[in-house]
Amino acid sequence: MTDDNGDAGTFAERWSRKHLLGLQDLTAEEITLILDQAAEFKRLAGEGETKLSGLAGTTVANLFFEPSTRTRTSFSLAAKRLSADTVDFTAASSSLTKGETFIDTARNIEAMGVDQVVVRHSSSGAPHLLAQHLDASVINAGDGMHEHPTQALLDLFTIREHRGSLKGLTVTLVGDILHSRVARSNIWGLTKLGARVIVCGPSTLIPPHVERLGEHGVEVSNSLDEVLSETDVINLLRIQFERQRSAFFPSIREYAHFFGMNGERIRKAKKDVLILAPGPINRGVELTPDVADGPHSVILDQVTNGLLVRMSVLFLLQQYREKTAGLQTAANTEGSL
Ligand code: CP
Repeated sequence: MTDDNGDAGTFAERWSRKHLLGLQDLTAEEITLILDQAAEFKRLAGEGETKLSGLAGTTVANLFFEPSTRTRTSFSLAAKRLSADTVDFTAASSSLTKGETFIDTARNIEAMGVDQVVVRHSSSGAPHLLAQHLDASVINAGDGMHEHPTQALLDLFTIREHRGSLKGLTVTLVGDILHSRVARSNIWGLTKLGARVIVCGPSTLIPPHVERLGEHGVEVSNSLDEVLSETDVINLLRIQFERQRSAFFPSIREYAHFFGMNGERIRKAKKDVLILAPGPINRGVELTPDVADGPHSVILDQVTNGLLVRMSVLFLLQQYREKTAGLQTAANTEGSL
């Protein structure tokens, strides 16, 4: 197979990582490879090939220690579309409530024969810790305020699908940058693929030294109205009330007045501006219903593409597992001759 860049070899042959822990670690080529494999799955789905065999005989465990609708459901569906068995673990009804530790919980589930573990946790670094203790591949489905790599990958995929390329686009991330793992993963992914990134919000919700993040830094603005006309893509991040320990702005009404996307701001924006939001959205806070459901919104495209991007990640990691297991077996056989 030859990809759009003319590189020989299948996407899976060129993938060489056991885990997906964040976009900070990945090269632009690796990110592009995941997106290209997702595009291939989308092409196949368009031809009616919705049930594939790429993960047949393997098991994927979803370990969610925080609530989720989109990420958990799409990982589960992605694994099923690739013919894997799935295990859905929910912290609230587990033996964690009897005092079992995070690592023991994961190791016990792995002992049932799990190949890949998808983990969401409120502590930054939880997936990295699991990767040190498990033989299974670990996929970060959101860790604390650190990273949410598959969310950023589906954002990149959706922008690329609508604009052809990320290179040269101005993408403004609006809202609660301080508490947002989606913002961090987006900053890494967008800058690696050549986009200009502006982070915009009240100064209390902009983390210190954020301008140094990403491949070549980001710009900071405290006025959405000032950056609107130069922005190609607006990604509206949710105010993460559950992670805030004090009041970061006077009122929700004031936040919506200065940073909410509404019909008036859409009229002042570029004619083809794309509106993204990772979800869940707070209608009337980050954006008004007419914007959420309007012609510039690609929010449901993001959800559709999330399934394809997660299929791509699961498939590439499993292919790497099989490739390295084969090499290991060959080395052992050679050693015993
Ligand atoms: N965007 C996102 O991660 O949504 P969920 O919390 O519903 O998974």
